Amino acid sequence: MTGNEIREKFLEYFERHDHRRVHSSPLLPANDPTLLFTNAGMNQFKDVFLGDEKRDYKRAVSSQKCIRAGGKHNDLDEVGKTARHHTFFEMLGNFSFGDYFKKEAITYAWDFLVNELKIDETRLWFSVFEGDDEVGPDDEARSFWEAVGAKPDRILGYGRKDNFWQMGDTGPCGPCSEIHYYMGENPEDPVKNHPKWVNGEGDTMMEIWNLVFMQYNRTLEPDDTFKLTPLPAPSVDTGMGLERITAVMQHVKTNYDTDLIKPIVEFAASLGTR
Ligand code: GLY
Repeated sequence: MTGNEIREKFLEYFERHDHRRVHSSPLLPANDPTLLFTNAGMNQFKDVFLGDEKRDYKRAVSSQKCIRAGGKHNDLDEVGKTARHHTFFEMLGNFSFGDYFKKEAITYAWDFLVNELKIDETRLWFSVFEGDDEVGPDDEARSFWEAVGAKPDRILGYGRKDNFWQMGDTGPCGPCSEIHYYMGENPEDPVKNHPKWVNGEGDTMMEIWNLVFMQYNRTLEPDDTFKLTPLPAPSVDTGMGLERITAVMQHVKTNYDTDLIKPIVEFAASLGTR
């Protein structure tokens, strides 16, 4: 499958499940002084999550152009060091605004990866928020992963750094559950296809999809502390890197080798030889 076909398959899958297809918003956020560049698919829906804006749909799907080159989500220092960071990318995402929540988000993600894309589930690992002194452990997400078919030993708990997502210092946020993919040759390799590489060094495992269970608004208080206030309705915001899932589907080792990026690199290289 080409990258363009994977993008279309994602958009079409969620349209089939009653999501409104929404265009990517501009890379420069229109009305958000907290962001320099659009850094996630959910940015254009921020006010919808907060309950300050109503739309005539409660489910959406998009492929959002993003730049992560500063602020809370900054990939700039990773470029050239990993196989999967390039600061500009497209994020596939499905969204629920007070409609479905964890169970459906997890069921859709599993169904899309395992049944639609036919990804080998023995290469997949799932992470959930293990809780801290502010927000409790996400045992629900763990049980929903088990219900769809994930093996219990493939569901791993992590803390706030890895499994609590917020777009910036302030704004909608919540615990998240990530899907990681083993990039090595042999999924039966017990040393490399091993949980120690999830959220670890190197490119052995690659995070491909993040399911955020939007539950709070994070605000800065007059005393310079941050406060979490529940959103009007629990919601869903997911993000899957198009170039990452394309690398998986095209069996290449880096995003730069996908048909989304390689022709650009080759064209740029050819300019030097003209
Ligand atoms: N908004 C979900 C993500 O960027 O991972």
